[in-house]
Amino acid sequence: MSTLKLTAETESLINNRAVGYSLEAPFYASQEIFDLDVEAIFAKHWLFSTTEAEIAEPGDFVTVDIGPHSVIILRDDDEEVRAFRNVCRHRGSRLLDSPCGSVGNLVCPYHQWTYRTDGSLIHAESQPPSFERDRFGLKPVHVRTVGGLVFICLGEEPPEDFDEVAGNIEPYLTPYDLRHAKVAHQVDLVEEGNWKLVMENNRECHHCDSAHPELITAYFPLFGYTADDVTPRLRPVFERYQAAAEDLGAACAASQFPRDTWYEPDTRITGFRVSHLPLDGEGSSFGPDGKPVCAKLMGSITQARFGDLSMHMQPNSWFHLLSDHAIVFRVLPVSPDKSIVRTTWLVHSDAVEGVDYDVDSLTSVWRTTNDQDRVLVAGTQCGVANPGYEPGPYSLVEDDVEAFANWYIGRLHKYVTS
Ligand code: FES
Ligand SMILES: [Fe+2]
Repeated sequence: MSTLKLTAETESLINNRAVGYSLEAPFYASQEIFDLDVEAIFAKHWLFSTTEAEIAEPGDFVTVDIGPHSVIILRDDDEEVRAFRNVCRHRGSRLLDSPCGSVGNLVCPYHQWTYRTDGSLIHAESQPPSFERDRFGLKPVHVRTVGGLVFICLGEEPPEDFDEVAGNIEPYLTPYDLRHAKVAHQVDLVEEGNWKLVMENNRECHHCDSAHPELITAYFPLFGYTADDVTPRLRPVFERYQAAAEDLGAACAASQFPRDTWYEPDTRITGFRVSHLPLDGEGSSFGPDGKPVCAKLMGSITQARFGDLSMHMQPNSWFHLLSDHAIVFRVLPVSPDKSIVRTTWLVHSDAVEGVDYDVDSLTSVWRTTNDQDRVLVAGTQCGVANPGYEPGPYSLVEDDVEAFANWYIGRLHKYVTS
């Protein structure tokens, strides 16, 4: 049940969305719908928030700000990952202001109420003898770790299908051992666009040929093609692709790595997609001609030519796991026309900067790609704010964009009508 009083116009937009078409302009520009997004999507669904590698040691924390919500995610003294509202139980001060760091205990900057890393209150000065400390522990937030990825849910009753989704994706993540990986680099990119434009842009590669020359060299230029579509000109590429796909299948079988594709982006509450694609050229990574960018392979991966394990999670994340590094992406909404995309590059914990990798080469393709996407998103935000905009039809190769929009509208509809 929405706590927001929605206008009839917004309700009508949700109820009458034209399937197969991009969303109406207010979904990208209206403050009312932005507030609804925070409440109905970000405060009710499981969100990818951080990696365990970022909170490797007891006391390590990150803070995550989503609209009015702020959450502390930390590893407690028993090495459990926990999440709490970033609010002191005395008079409400924000507890931690830094985006990340390490603490012994959590000490409020205002009057120094002090909490253990498990959230229990251990010190509150000048309270009467009748004061019951155990009534004033930090408010917990639901948190789950899956293969080294940390998800939170701000809702009181998190979507129950997460267990099933976690069970499906964990076997794909385990060989990469992200839990013990090392953060090689992290970039926060402010994008001048609604968070849904950022997500929609990620959910298709229709624009890749023209926008991402650095990225597409890693992939076979066969997006949207089936065997029947392959022209004589593309036949050699297709045969190269088939050979690489067979090699990848054999590499997966040899290491008992699951090979199935999962495609459930809009048919469940915790929408997700997993696919494992062979890469072109040398076929190892995002280096020039498909070459590796880190000399140490991830986790228990033994073959450099291990493709790109690509995973999408609704509403706010995507992941590329390669034999030599992993890249994780998280989108958070800031305002109707602003979002923050966090990109984190992970390598094997023993990989040494300057010896096994250098940050420039490791991050080059996706720093460039993200910046190209930033321009596309900003241009689309300008376009949808133009009174001349009207929703246009998705193409045959934009099925993941459409699935994202269908999932989003479905979740809003469920929220406002239940
Ligand atoms: S508000 Fe935190 S100690 Fe007073
Ligand atoms: Fe892109």
